[in-house]
Amino acid sequence: MERYRFNYRSFSDLEQDIVKLGLDLPLESDLSVLQEAVSVGDGQIPNRLAIQPMEGCDSLPDGSPSELTERRYIRYAQGGCGLIWFEAVAVSNKGRGKPSQLHIHESTLNAFTQLVDKTRNVAMETNGINPYLVLQLTHAGRYGNNKIIVVHEEELDRKAKVDPDKAIVTDEELLEFEDDMVKAALLAKQAGFDAVDIKSCHRYLISENLGAHTRSGQFGGSYQNRTRLVKNIIRKIKDQQIDIEVTVRLNSYDAVNYPYGWGTDVQGHIDLTEPKQLVAELHNLGLSMINITASTPYLAPHLSRPYDQPTKRGYPAPEHPLIGVNRMIHLARELQEVVPDMVIVGTGYSWLRHYAPQVAAGVAKAGWAKVLGFGRQAFAYPDFANDIINQGEMVGKKVCVSCSKCSELKAAARLTGCVVRDNQVYVPPYVQLIKEMNV
Ligand SMILES: Cc1cc2nc3c(=O)[nH]c(=O)nc-3n(C[C@H](O)[C@H](O)[C@H](O)COP(=O)(O)O)c2cc1C
Repeated sequence: MERYRFNYRSFSDLEQDIVKLGLDLPLESDLSVLQEAVSVGDGQIPNRLAIQPMEGCDSLPDGSPSELTERRYIRYAQGGCGLIWFEAVAVSNKGRGKPSQLHIHESTLNAFTQLVDKTRNVAMETNGINPYLVLQLTHAGRYGNNKIIVVHEEELDRKAKVDPDKAIVTDEELLEFEDDMVKAALLAKQAGFDAVDIKSCHRYLISENLGAHTRSGQFGGSYQNRTRLVKNIIRKIKDQQIDIEVTVRLNSYDAVNYPYGWGTDVQGHIDLTEPKQLVAELHNLGLSMINITASTPYLAPHLSRPYDQPTKRGYPAPEHPLIGVNRMIHLARELQEVVPDMVIVGTGYSWLRHYAPQVAAGVAKAGWAKVLGFGRQAFAYPDFANDIINQGEMVGKKVCVSCSKCSELKAAARLTGCVVRDNQVYVPPYVQLIKEMNV
């Protein structure tokens, strides 16, 4: 199989590949559009650059942020992005992804409040901006401590080491989970976040429920039943009348075939009929912003985080990563077209390395997404936004090289960050992990 990698020595090399591969990526050399502020409800994102949620697997045992967690958000705050989307945070012990996942509850509220204050203060002192802060609330479902299943599917069960006879989560338990989300949203408001994200992506609990065609009862089968959980949570939070925005990080499609997936038809092709309907309904429910992503890292990571190098037990990318980047950008575009006055946050820019700003500016100028989000790049190069805004470029020597080492660390629940660019902190856990894996 051909090994694809980023091998562009100049911007025109990238332009040539876009043409050769028959892709449609808008490029813009004037980056000023990225400095524009964007309104979200009554709030404002001071520029169009965002840090995507990236789990660092470094909480204290009670779920509060550790010194290393704080270091990560301080680096982001210094880096100049207008939007910082805080990583997946558990809303209950049952739904915690791993013992090192952050968990918001009454006893950790104070620590979260301090983290929010520090993040805002550092951003203001360093860059004179007040970043928009979103907290991603999650239940890890089948990928959590308790492997909680919405529906069984053979391949997903095997990958997540789930007993095929394990009882599925009951409707009553899902209703309890709705209340856990509401409690967490109230705490997030007290902590000072601008918004909460009802995480509905990557096949964690709510995302799995969106594809639960084979489940019976009020949360399975029809479109209305499968989207009931996320919509109930949003309505219940809105009923509290607390002054906090509600947003969703949504899978555009799962790449899991019907009748187990979302946004995917019987032949396994992308079918955005239902995702488009949901995005329109979320708009009608009063949401102002949706963050669009895709797939699940547990089955097909190349689709949502295009890479040059797979993880040790992963697989080489079966397509040119630029095709993956192009697909992610067009999925966001199609959904932005449904809700032109909403803020769609786009995903999947890190593989483009130091040429990402020109693509991000092209996408923003074309109106294909209003805010452009960076995941792995933020681990490698937390001040990329300041370099774009102040110097008009990203520096080649500082970029993420899509080596998948951060994915490897996260999958093993080890301290997670950039092994290449932040090596003093993350080489030791990576070396230890590789020794233990014996590969
Ligand atoms: C180590 C790691 C941790 C991640 N943690 C989260 C998370 O907490 N929540 C989430 O929605 N996505 C998470 N993601 C996905 C990223 O937010 C992002 O969608 C993905 O990396 C693709 O964007 P990129 O090409 O800019 O890296 C994670 C990805 C990686 C590699």
